[in-house]
Amino acid sequence: MNYQAQRGSVLHFLDQHSPEYFADGILVTDSDKGTVVAVGEAESILAQFPQLQVTEHSQALICPGFIDTHIHYPQVDVIASYGEQLLDWLNNYTFPHESKFADEAHASETADFFLRELLKNGSTTGLVFGTVHPQSVDAFFRASEALNTRMICGKVMMDRNAPDFLCDDVASSKNDSQALIDRWHGKGRQLYAVTPRFAITSTPEQLAAAGELLADNPGVYMQTHLSENLDEIAFVKELFPQRKNYLDVYDHYGLLGEYSTFAHGVHLEDGEYQRLSETGSKIAFCPTSNLFLGSGLLPLDDQPFPVGVSVATDVGGGTSFSMLQTMSEAYKVCQLRGHRLSPQQAFYMMTLGNAKSLKLDDKLGNFTAGKEADFVVLDLAATELMQRRQAICNTLDETLFCLTILGDDRSVAETWVAGKKVYSKDEAN
Ligand code: GUN
Ligand code: ZN
Repeated sequence: MNYQAQRGSVLHFLDQHSPEYFADGILVTDSDKGTVVAVGEAESILAQFPQLQVTEHSQALICPGFIDTHIHYPQVDVIASYGEQLLDWLNNYTFPHESKFADEAHASETADFFLRELLKNGSTTGLVFGTVHPQSVDAFFRASEALNTRMICGKVMMDRNAPDFLCDDVASSKNDSQALIDRWHGKGRQLYAVTPRFAITSTPEQLAAAGELLADNPGVYMQTHLSENLDEIAFVKELFPQRKNYLDVYDHYGLLGEYSTFAHGVHLEDGEYQRLSETGSKIAFCPTSNLFLGSGLLPLDDQPFPVGVSVATDVGGGTSFSMLQTMSEAYKVCQLRGHRLSPQQAFYMMTLGNAKSLKLDDKLGNFTAGKEADFVVLDLAATELMQRRQAICNTLDETLFCLTILGDDRSVAETWVAGKKVYSKDEAN
């Protein structure tokens, strides 16, 4: 038993519409077990734990670590690539960069940088694409294991419509994925996701192999892309004329389900919403990416059938590692569609909502005693402008909204993973 206690304002969600906020709160964690011990008003926690050594954080908001439900670690160096929409962006920028991950040393160096960047931005869990190279995923999990972060990652499966040097084949993609599952899924905090890149870059036989992997390995995740861009959708229709729609390609091969996350889903037909809803499959809303690549505006507020939507950066199509910046862009996408995304909904989505979407809410996403102690200490006054603007916020909603719209990595004072401090802005500077 080795308790740490952080004092500041504390916000977490017990459920979507049940925030718990302590204006002067304390979060108690145990660095031996890596779990949450207690959370509450400072006075009552101090009465309960009279021996506690407390670290005081002024003008700070303590909340669960952010969760990013769709991101590509090999695209660190693709971020901010000029001028293209999805298919040309993939061919001209992304594929050439991803070829470098055949080199495990490059993969390891990039994985380290990527994970440090996530933590610097307050994100403690991600659903992450590797490249087609199995060693890219080994490198990633090794780096994550060293930090003890809870990460989900997978080897990209792609066997057509990509350069030869980035293609696997049906048998090797299945064997390599299975070997990675055996090596990593459930090892410490690491989890595996079967990762067919998207319908365009897999043959029907490879999609069938992906379905078999999921059937053979219950509890393993599935991640892919869906209906991001109009040219992409037209190409999928050409490649799979016998399927009803884009989602039906994945459905046909058994890729839908509660552990499945489909990035984007910007241009879905009603029938696609229906099947996503019926199967408990999830969409990852990637606003900075959808704006940057000119893909479109996700209708978050307007679903013909209810589908779980998480929120994600999609770096390097996305333009920021910061979930605060991502929610700021999500707010603007909703504005363009005449819908208001509330500040509390934004905080819920980045934490417990995204944990639920990944079926990790039994482990993460809020400060229920016994959960894994991944949390972030946010500095409400990180810049002169933020300090000035926060000084005239009168309600929690106003405070959260300013933090979301103006905040980014500068707002992250500390990040803690499994009860240990893994990033401190003071020490980084
Ligand atoms: N569709 C297929 N691959 C990708 C990718 O790497 N990024 C995005 N944004 N969309 C994709
Ligand atoms: Zn993506």
